[in-house]
Amino acid sequence: LRVAVIGGGRSCEHDVSLATAASIGDALEARDVDVVRLTIGRDGRWSDANGPLGAGVAVSLTAAVGILSGCDVAFPAVHGPRGEDGTLAGLLDLAGIPYVGSGVRGGALAMDKWATKLVAQALGIAVAEGTLVDARSPLPTVRAFPVVVKPVASGSSHGVAVARDDVELRESVARAGLLDDRVLVEDFVVGREIDVAVLETAGGARVVGPPLEIVVATGGVFDTADKYDGDPTFLLPAPVSPAEQTTLRDAALALFDTLGCRGVARFDFFLSPVHGLVLNEVNTMPGMTATSQVPKMFAALGTRYEDLVEGLVLAAAA
Ligand code: DAL
Ligand code: MG
Repeated sequence: LRVAVIGGGRSCEHDVSLATAASIGDALEARDVDVVRLTIGRDGRWSDANGPLGAGVAVSLTAAVGILSGCDVAFPAVHGPRGEDGTLAGLLDLAGIPYVGSGVRGGALAMDKWATKLVAQALGIAVAEGTLVDARSPLPTVRAFPVVVKPVASGSSHGVAVARDDVELRESVARAGLLDDRVLVEDFVVGREIDVAVLETAGGARVVGPPLEIVVATGGVFDTADKYDGDPTFLLPAPVSPAEQTTLRDAALALFDTLGCRGVARFDFFLSPVHGLVLNEVNTMPGMTATSQVPKMFAALGTRYEDLVEGLVLAAAA
């Protein structure tokens, strides 16, 4: 089996994607899979292990499609816009190359946090009340601070800030606006942060991993620094009641199916004493290093990292 593992990408999650792709490539090589490692640079140029595949973006992309067409499956391990948002899925669909993970619809809907909210609400899943702001909109009138400000399409909490007054709101919207021309201003949900992953097996069955709770040492929000420079504590399984576990599971499965997810996706919730279960966001290409949340969740079910990765590839090839 020859598998192209694609990492990097043009979004601010470039480095995280490199880490995810490196771990996936290593896991597949440990299973004697013939791994072709492709990287998308921050400038959009594609490289293989020997270096850039061409002088410009389009030329290197054309060469990359040639390499991809010689592979049985692609594993697009690219987080964030122009990766996880359906763009890579669309390229692979057009080229007729089987790939791990969600297609265009699932990726595009889940990368757009506003669209995700609308879908979740239609399913009866609570979300934080939010206002959509674009470059031309006046700042929203906030009923109660603090609010959470975030780019509509980004990841790893880049551009996310808590604003406590109008001055911070203006600054936060401007900063988030550097990453996306649309920005969300949301009510701050006080609650425990609990994530659930859904994994699709080769037979089409869906396995829901045990809920994982994130305890942030700094006592604040789970921000970029906590994610990659800090030492967050994960409670696995999260100490939730059987009823809460069922609600988490049902919500994750409903979102997986309705958004049109494939492969594996991670659903990040808050469990709020006031509002119950509240969806925060969906990741259709979640962090997948051996120590990332999703591999930890399935390890708790007895699935080794190499088996998880190989299983995703085999399901995509089937
Ligand atoms: N967006 C990061 C990679 C995650 O959700 O795991
Ligand atoms: Mg995300």
